[in-house]
Amino acid sequence: MEISYRKLIDGNRRFSMSKKFDDPEYFKKLSLGQKPDYLWIGCSDSRVPANEVTNTESGEIFVHRNIANLVVHTDMNLLSVLEYAVKYLEVKHVIICGHYGCGGVKAAMGNDFHGFLDNWLRNIKDVYHKHHLELDTIESLDKRADRLTELNVVEQVRNLAKTTIVQETWKKRPLHLHGWVYGINNGLIKDLSVIHDGTEDIEAIYRLNV
Ligand code: CO
Repeated sequence: MEISYRKLIDGNRRFSMSKKFDDPEYFKKLSLGQKPDYLWIGCSDSRVPANEVTNTESGEIFVHRNIANLVVHTDMNLLSVLEYAVKYLEVKHVIICGHYGCGGVKAAMGNDFHGFLDNWLRNIKDVYHKHHLELDTIESLDKRADRLTELNVVEQVRNLAKTTIVQETWKKRPLHLHGWVYGINNGLIKDLSVIHDGTEDIEAIYRLNV
């Protein structure tokens, strides 16, 4: 137990040394402040670390993660991260990145009882219900989960576009929303091309006259 947690501290010492070896000013530069171009909303899954899978450095991506990369319009945590990233850091892109083999998506497809967690997974069940005509035709459960993973990302991008924060920003400047799915089995990101660039991309009822 002790050895397992020591591994993290030891790893940190090696990280710090190697960064300073490559660039003695590395941490000094980072400590001046951050100006990331991207906000990443991803799954909490330990196999999808934002910086590692995009080969980026500290300071390049502002990150929010939760189970199954959901954008829930009453989630104060997500809305605060979004507002800070868009308004103060002035990120140019917001990326929702789901991943194949997502435990949250698989759990939402079934009827097992998980307790409190089911209230969160309910959001994915709503995505399933909205697209059930397409999903029900897919016989393989794995393939159906893959498709639900993609549809979930598309719906979360739409949810982003419906927020007051994104719509207020669109009145002032461009902000690009992206939907991606990461493959745990090959390490590759698939761009679902669900870019939402303006309020014309969302259904009329959700458009706000800000
Ligand atoms: Co996941």
